[in-house]
Amino acid sequence: MSLISVNNLTFYYDGSYDNIFEDVSFQIDTNWKLGFIGRNGRGKTTFLNLLMGKYEYKGSISASVHFDYFPYEVNDKSRAVIDVLEDIYPEYEFWKVCREVSLLEVNDDIWYRPFDTLSNGEQTKVMLAVLFSRDNNFLLIDEPTNHLDMEAREVVKSYLNKKSGFILVSHDRSFLDGCIDHVLSINRANIDVVSGNFSSWWENKKRQDDFELAENAKLKKEIKRLSDAAMQASKWADDVEATKIGKRSEKYEKSIGTRSYVGEKSRRMQQRRKNLERRMNREIEEKSALLKNIEEAESIKLVPLKHHKQPLVNISGMNLYYGDKLVCRDVNLQIRSGQCIALIGRNGCGKSTLIKKIIGENIKSEGTIELASGLIISYVSQDTSFLSGELKQYIAENGLDETLFMQFLRKMDFARTQFDKKLEELSAGQKKKVLLARSLCTQAHLYVWDEPLNYIDIFSRMQIEELINQYRPTMIMVEHDKTFIESINADKVHL
Ligand SMILES: Nc1ncnc2c1ncn2[C@@H]1O[C@H](COP(=O)(O)OP(=O)(O)OP(=O)(O)O)[C@@H](O)[C@H]1O
Ligand SMILES: [Mg+2]
Repeated sequence: MSLISVNNLTFYYDGSYDNIFEDVSFQIDTNWKLGFIGRNGRGKTTFLNLLMGKYEYKGSISASVHFDYFPYEVNDKSRAVIDVLEDIYPEYEFWKVCREVSLLEVNDDIWYRPFDTLSNGEQTKVMLAVLFSRDNNFLLIDEPTNHLDMEAREVVKSYLNKKSGFILVSHDRSFLDGCIDHVLSINRANIDVVSGNFSSWWENKKRQDDFELAENAKLKKEIKRLSDAAMQASKWADDVEATKIGKRSEKYEKSIGTRSYVGEKSRRMQQRRKNLERRMNREIEEKSALLKNIEEAESIKLVPLKHHKQPLVNISGMNLYYGDKLVCRDVNLQIRSGQCIALIGRNGCGKSTLIKKIIGENIKSEGTIELASGLIISYVSQDTSFLSGELKQYIAENGLDETLFMQFLRKMDFARTQFDKKLEELSAGQKKKVLLARSLCTQAHLYVWDEPLNYIDIFSRMQIEELINQYRPTMIMVEHDKTFIESINADKVHL
């Protein structure tokens, strides 16, 4: 066992106004399976990069282990897998990588195939195998689940559960629950380390938030009561004082004794007011320490358009090709108004290709697809790498209602300071939120979303669940988050 100690860490990106970390300190144990959670843009990837020594920072990070980071950068994906291994970890030991690859249930015919012909899931698994073939390194695993299909998530989850000595960033609740024993969370106001898995962390957070909300309401009432009482005491003191001198005092002025009695009474009243105010200030201070970690996740509204024709989309006997390769055979699918369809299938089985066919991209195919006339589709692509430039320019180019668009982003926890950033400087989840906000701003008959939740934080996943359950827009999506698919009660279509 050894410790990683973070002391008084402060960091901000050059040219940025906001501090990502400000004077934070915590310790973690290198034996843990540590889940790392926090809303998009809070600095999870940045922290992992700080551990890797990528940026300069104030404060200290001490550790007696070496760090290794997932995902590896693969410079030339057209090279054979075996050459890519050489690239990313020149000292790799083949038998160890083979051992891990087989634990991850990857076929062992992959070694001489070009890396980019592996499915996303296989690419992830190969990288994880290399990562875990290294001895004595503490592993920093940044969002391995994105693009992994449900089956692959199960395999990787139980694989990780048998390992230890890693930090795992993930927003997939069921995945986290299956493979971590501690949680590091970047909250709104602080950073916390606790033992347990995601669900126990979540229960605890809910309890804490509920307690603070109740305490806040109680204190608010108490502050109001004290403030009224202090005002009353002050008024009484003034009234009593007025009987000592001036017109109202005539009948009391007869003796010095009476005047000093009145003076004493007014002094006591003033004292009472001061005591009440002191108590009130204490309560105000107590109240101001509350609610700091409550995450804003206001409901989002959606006004989908209704189309009178049924079905909206009718696909029959369709074969789909990726280039010249047949990826999907004999697809028969109808999308009816009000339906929410989740396309389920292994990585590489043609889900995105089918989605692209529906939105009208030029995909080689046989069979028929009919769309209801005048059908308006809103599309969220899997990829976000094309986003660049100013947010304002993006809004103008896409003809979006600026106020509405910004409102959606704000509700999904975009701080105002983020609006000045270039799109390419946003965190992975923030980029996906830009695409989601664009889609939500668009009134459409059909929402077509390709892995909408990749990189999206847990709180916003819940916001989107709530939105779909409330407005039931007609949707077809590819999404591998089990908790999400169950909670929106989607019709599963297996490809
Ligand atoms: N190169 C950069 N220049 C300026 N700001 C950056 C840069 N990279 C990241 N940021 C900002 O730093 C903050 C933290 O980003 P980071 O990628 O660490 O977040 P994250 O917690 O990993 O988010 P996500 O869950 O979306 O992956 C974000 O506000 C982001 O906009
Ligand atoms: Mg990140």
